[in-house]
Amino acid sequence: MGKDKLRRFAENETFGLLYQPEFEEVFNKDYLMKGLWHKNVFKNDNPIVLELGCGRGEYTVDMAREFPEKNFIGIDIKGARLWRGAKSAVEEQMHNVAFVRTRIEFIESLFGPGEISEIWITFADPQIKRDNKRLTNSRFIERYNSFLIDGGIIHLKTDSRFLHEYTVAMATYNGYKILEEIKDIYGSGRADRLLSIKTHYEKQYLAQGIPITYLSFIPDKEKKPGEPEWDPGIYIVTPR
Ligand SMILES: C[S@@+](CC[C@H](N)C(=O)[O-])C[C@H]1O[C@@H](n2cnc3c(N)ncnc32)[C@H](O)[C@@H]1O
Repeated sequence: MGKDKLRRFAENETFGLLYQPEFEEVFNKDYLMKGLWHKNVFKNDNPIVLELGCGRGEYTVDMAREFPEKNFIGIDIKGARLWRGAKSAVEEQMHNVAFVRTRIEFIESLFGPGEISEIWITFADPQIKRDNKRLTNSRFIERYNSFLIDGGIIHLKTDSRFLHEYTVAMATYNGYKILEEIKDIYGSGRADRLLSIKTHYEKQYLAQGIPITYLSFIPDKEKKPGEPEWDPGIYIVTPR
């Protein structure tokens, strides 16, 4: 392992806002902060917004700067990437930011019913062949429903037409309320302060001229989500 990575891992241990549960603490077990994020971590009742697969945490930190009346938690499995976001939040003494290094598959162990208001999924791997790993798959939506508030919003920002169209099909099939769909954020005139936050991966896709899409929807918590009968057809034209 490189020296820089080791230095980041060591510094991660010193960040009070970075939670790094052991496998045993989240595997088929409620994490000690489940249901307690408002009270014990943020010490307020403000809405909590999650970013899944946050990488360096650009959305988490930037949204936290813009919306001090909300709390933000970025989740990723890669500690060296999370270090960047955690370091910025510590340096800026931000009290509305936390990060968790864990697998998103364990997310039901982390949050209790009604604890989360919104979820951002930013540039997730579309998992074209492994649909049960796709973060907008019905199995994941079922997990999110266990802790979203009624009317909680899921936002998807992606470079992948496959992931975007799949998620539209999934949301439509399940009768979810679609709030907004944009096929090319920067070509549409809709790139406001929030939608134009650029992540590390996003900058690379933009440099390649790939349109960035956006979708927001409200899942129906009362219904078990199902998988759409969807033909990916033309959307499997690139590796993503
Ligand atoms: C393509 S990167 C995008 C990172 C960041 N959102 C960005 O736009 O720069 C996908 C991220 O998701 C994380 N990831 C993928 N699968 C995950 C999982 N099952 N649990 C936690 N993190 C995961 C990876 O570690 C990686 O940082």
